[in-house]
Amino acid sequence: MTIRLDYTNMMSPPIDGGIAGAEWRDVAVHFAEAHAGVEAERATGTLGFFDLPDDQRLHQQTLEYVKAISRRDAEPLTDVVVLGIGGSALGPIALRTALRPPQWNLLDDAARGGRPRLHVLDNVDPANVSSLIGRLDPRRSLFVVISKSGGTAETMAQYLVIRAWLNGALGEEGARDRLVLVTDPQKGALRAIARAEGIAALEIPANVGGRFSVLTPVGVLPAALIGIDTAALLAGAADMRDRCASDDLAKNIAGTWASLQYLADTKHGRHVHVLMPYSDALRDMAAWYVQIWAESLGKHRTAGDAGVGPTPLGALGATDQHSQVQLFMEGPGDKTVTFIGVTEGEGDVEIPHLHADIPELAYLGGHRLGELLDIERRATAGALARRGRPNMTLTLDRVDPFHLGALFMFLELATAYAGRLYGVNAFDQPGVELGKQFTYAMLGRADAGEARREWDLLPKPDPKRIL
Ligand code: PA5
Repeated sequence: MTIRLDYTNMMSPPIDGGIAGAEWRDVAVHFAEAHAGVEAERATGTLGFFDLPDDQRLHQQTLEYVKAISRRDAEPLTDVVVLGIGGSALGPIALRTALRPPQWNLLDDAARGGRPRLHVLDNVDPANVSSLIGRLDPRRSLFVVISKSGGTAETMAQYLVIRAWLNGALGEEGARDRLVLVTDPQKGALRAIARAEGIAALEIPANVGGRFSVLTPVGVLPAALIGIDTAALLAGAADMRDRCASDDLAKNIAGTWASLQYLADTKHGRHVHVLMPYSDALRDMAAWYVQIWAESLGKHRTAGDAGVGPTPLGALGATDQHSQVQLFMEGPGDKTVTFIGVTEGEGDVEIPHLHADIPELAYLGGHRLGELLDIERRATAGALARRGRPNMTLTLDRVDPFHLGALFMFLELATAYAGRLYGVNAFDQPGVELGKQFTYAMLGRADAGEARREWDLLPKPDPKRIL
């Protein structure tokens, strides 16, 4: 088994105000309907994320491209730079943090085994962009421009800045060789650029949306470039998907987690869903989870209604025991906490026996850091339970490509099921459109006249309310 879920502390008993047996029986029926709905949608061919672990053609194309680059370039790459945002950036970041040694980009070439550094420009903050460009050798860098739509303003702006810099340094033809575009197979500006200029391009299948795309070249290409075993990543995802084939909650781990979160939110006022790994390697998984849970579930069910959806929150153990856990323990009882523990940590460190005469230090001697981390997770879960705060624990045997693939698929499936339970479409994001239109209007995009008129009607800043 790759990942286990212990949800004892979500239920009543032992948690006062936890989920009752009758509610659990009712939600099992609701889940079976949700599962059937997801399967029916899958059968129409629109939920491509299910099939990515078996897509050998896509995987092989990606690996072939990585091989071709290393054959073509006289010297190995020193730097890979992902240009992207949202679902086109968070997966590569989570993969690098989880599956490469800590501080990967600070290691020297030998410690990186000759593999390149991986930078992900997931924003358009000029300070970060200029500082990165200033450190790169254009001849030994590869720019992976990722956008499913092929037209996202932030990613296109990053691309234009990088493209002009590459053109200046290497000429138009040299610049083309330093780029690979990852985008829709047919649509969008990036695909048009790839076709017009013969720039290398890999596809995000049309039926896979941004935040469900980590197992396409969006995540797999950057991962393969830095030496991650992508076959194992996909195998772990396939294993989890197959484990969640049943509409019986007792046999579907992702369905169980989704149903617990749904019940906790809608029947028990637990609107905030915290994911708290006790592993630095998994810290960026929390950010990936925040995006998929928020953007998929925060929706109107019918036009103009009040809106539904839980608020996801990332935390890191034990660090956030000294920051957010006070709030989780004694603040509003509006949260669930899902801990992630790891059974076999990487190379544990023994705590030396020093200062035997100082009680605050002496008890630590002879224990291990990994042991301390794990005990702190269990202690925090126990303390929350004692205060009636619902929590559950996902346990991974270890952090490796197989388990990470399984974790991505677990969260994707849970999101798809939760969408059905809440009665929303988990695969769109209409709410971000208006802000995009206002941005286009202010930047003078030709097709944004209507948004400009709407923008001009908004209340202007009131000088009396500005301090
Ligand atoms: O999940 C989504 O669809 C979004 O968060 C996108 O990933 C994000 O907006 C970036 O879009 P694109 O990949 O089209 O540039």
